Amino acid sequence: MLKALTILSVIIASVQASFLVLEERDNPPDGYSRLGSTPSDKFLNFCLALAQNDILGLHEAVYDVSTPGNARYGQYLSKEEVAKFVAPSAKTSWLTSNDLTSSPLTDAGDWIAVKMTVSQANRLLAAEFSTFHNPSTNHTVDRTLSYSIPSGLKAGISTIYPTVTFPGATVRSAINRTVATAAGANRPAASVSPDRRANSSWGPACLQELYEISSTPAKPAANVLAVSGFVNDFANKRDLKSFLLEFRPDIDPNTTFGLISVDGGINNQLPAGSGVQSTADIQYTVGLATGVPVDFISTGPPANDVDIFAAYLTQADYLLSLTDPPQTVLHAFADLESDTSPALAESICNSYAQLAARGVSYIVDTGIWGAGGSPFGECILWDPPFPATCPFVTAVGATEFFPDETDETGTFFSGGGFSNFFERPRYQDTAVPAYLETVGASPSSPFNISGRAVPDVSAISRVPFFQAGQLVDSAETTGFSASIFASIIALLSNERIVAGKKGLGFLNPLIYQNPGAFKDMPTGFNPGAGCSVLGFNGTVGWDPVTGFGSPSYTKLQEACNKF
Ligand SMILES: *[C@@H]1O[C@H](CO)[C@@H](O)[C@H](O)[C@H]1NC(C)=O
Ligand SMILES: *[C@@H]1O[C@H](CO)[C@@H](O)[C@H](O)[C@H]1NC(C)=O
Ligand SMILES: *[C@@H]1O[C@H](CO)[C@@H](O)[C@H](O)[C@H]1NC(C)=O
Ligand SMILES: *[C@@H]1O[C@H](CO)[C@@H](O)[C@H](O)[C@H]1NC(C)=O
Ligand SMILES: *[C@@H]1O[C@H](CO)[C@@H](O)[C@H](O)[C@H]1NC(C)=O
Ligand SMILES: *[C@@H]1O[C@H](CO)[C@@H](O)[C@H](O)[C@H]1NC(C)=O
Repeated sequence: MLKALTILSVIIASVQASFLVLEERDNPPDGYSRLGSTPSDKFLNFCLALAQNDILGLHEAVYDVSTPGNARYGQYLSKEEVAKFVAPSAKTSWLTSNDLTSSPLTDAGDWIAVKMTVSQANRLLAAEFSTFHNPSTNHTVDRTLSYSIPSGLKAGISTIYPTVTFPGATVRSAINRTVATAAGANRPAASVSPDRRANSSWGPACLQELYEISSTPAKPAANVLAVSGFVNDFANKRDLKSFLLEFRPDIDPNTTFGLISVDGGINNQLPAGSGVQSTADIQYTVGLATGVPVDFISTGPPANDVDIFAAYLTQADYLLSLTDPPQTVLHAFADLESDTSPALAESICNSYAQLAARGVSYIVDTGIWGAGGSPFGECILWDPPFPATCPFVTAVGATEFFPDETDETGTFFSGGGFSNFFERPRYQDTAVPAYLETVGASPSSPFNISGRAVPDVSAISRVPFFQAGQLVDSAETTGFSASIFASIIALLSNERIVAGKKGLGFLNPLIYQNPGAFKDMPTGFNPGAGCSVLGFNGTVGWDPVTGFGSPSYTKLQEACNKF
C-alpha cells in the first residue's frame, strides 16, 4: 500500500511538473502576421542545443591560450580537447521514447538534429506552430510563440531552433545592406600622400598607406583567411579580377580564392547573382592580405535565406570538424540581438568560444544600424548587433574621412553599444568602465552598462569595389571595415607562422592590452541609419562608436613581436 502510494505520488508530481516553458514571446516581431496553423503533417527540421559538460571550463581555457603573458598562450586546443568540454552533460531517452530519431550535428554531440511533423512538435513541445508572413521582406516561416520541455530535462536542453526566433529584416538586407553615399564622396583625406590622393577613392593603395599594410606578398605558410558567405550572397570571380587589374596592378590578376561548399552552398557566378557583401569581402581580402590563401565558405542549403542562425551554426560546426581550421575567419553579416533569443545567442556564441579555443580569430562586423536598431523592424533603440556582442569574437565598427578632412572619424551608422545578453568580459574591465565614467553612465542609462560592449576596433567603411562588372564607389558598410581588419590579422598571423609560432587566435585580450596600437577617434557619433536615437559619442579612449579606433599594422606587429 505504501509502495503503491509512493508510485502514485511520483506520477502525480511528474504530471504536475510535466512541462516547463523554455522560451516564449508575446507576439511575433513587428511586420509579421499569422496566416494560420501550420499543416499538422508538415515536417520541420529542428536543431537542439544540449547542455554542455563544462562550458565555463572552456571559457577559462580560451582566456589562457589567448592572453599574451599567460604560460599557455598560443597552446590552442585540439578538436578532441574542445569536445571534452562541450560534450552533452547528460543523456536523454526523451526523443527515442517518443519514436523520434536524432542525429548529431557536431562531432562533440552538443547539437543534434531532429525532424518531426508539426503535430509531433506541437505535442512534444507543448507548442502551437503557425505560419507567419512578413510582406516587407516576403519571409514566410513556421514558428511558435512558446515551447516547453519536460521539466526533468531543464538541465539538459539549452535551446531548440527554429521556434521563437523569426528572421529579421537584417537578414534579408544583409544581401544588399550598404549605406548609399554620394558618388565621389570617398575622397581620401589630406593625411594620405598627394599622389595617392590624386586617385578618387579608398582603394588598396590608400589603405596600405593609411594603416601601414605591406604590399609585399606574404611568405608561403600554412595559413588561411576564410570569408563567410550566407543567405545566398556570392563572391564573383570576374569582379575580383577587374578589381585586381584596377587596384593591384602589382599582383597577378588571376589570383583567386578557393571555394568551400558547406551543406550544399553554391557560388553563383551569373552577374545578377553577385552579392554586394561577399563580392566586396573577397576583393578586400584577396586584394589586401597579399599572398595569403583565401577561401570562400558558402553555407547552404541553397535558396534558404530565412534560417540564418542555422547557417551560422552549420558553418561553425564545419570549422570545428577540421583538424586544422583556418587561422582567420571573416563573418561580415550582422543581425541584431533582438533578432535572436538569449538562449539561442548564447548557444551560437559557445560555438564561437570553441573556435577561439582552437586558435581561430573570428572577425565580425557591427552592422549598419548605429545605436539605433533596424528601421525594418520595430526600431528597438540601443539594440546591439549580434553575433558581434558574443565575447569570443572581435567586433569591427566603421570609420570614414569627410571630404578634405584630415582626421579619420567614427561613421554615423557604425554599430555599437552594450549587450543585453552577455556580461562584460574581463578583457574589457579597464577600458569600458573608463568610458562609462567619462560619459556619466549609470544603471538608469538607457543602455545596459553591465553588458559586453562593442565594437572592439574599427576601420574605413567606404571603399570602391566591382559588382556585376561595374565599379561601385558610393557604398559603405561595416562589412568592408571587417574585411580590411581581417586582412591585417591574416598578414600578422602569417608572419608568426613563418617564424614558427602559432597564429594570433582569439584577439581581444591582445587588443585590450595594446590600445596604443590603434588610432583613437574622439569624434563621431552613431545615431544609426534608420531609427532616431542620439547614439553614442566618440570619446578619448575606447568608445561604442569605434572601439579603440583603427589599426596601425606596424604597432600591432610590435605588440605581437613581444611574445
Ligand atoms: C515571395 O516568396 C514566394 C515564396 O515564398 C515567391 O514565390 C514569390 O515570388 C516571392 N514574391 C516576391 C515579390 O519576391
Ligand atoms: C540594392 O540596392 C540598390 C541601391 O539602393 C537597389 O537599386 C537594388 O534594387 C537593391 N537590390 C536588392 C536585391 O535589394
Ligand atoms: C591611381 O589609380 C590608377 C588606376 O585607377 C593606378 O594605375 C595608379 O597606380 C594609382 N596611383 C596611385 C598613386 O595609387
Ligand atoms: C591569366 O589567365 C589567363 C587565362 O588562363 C591567361 O591567358 C593569362 O596569361 C593569365 N595572366 C597572367 C598574368 O598569368
Ligand atoms: C543587461 O545585461 C545583463 C547581462 O550582462 C542581463 O543579464 C540583463 O538581463 C540585461 N538587462 C536588460 C534590461 O536587458
Ligand atoms: C552624446 O552627446 C550628446 C550631446 O552632448 C548628449 O546629449 C548625449 O547624451 C550623448 N550620448 C551618450 C550616450 O552619452
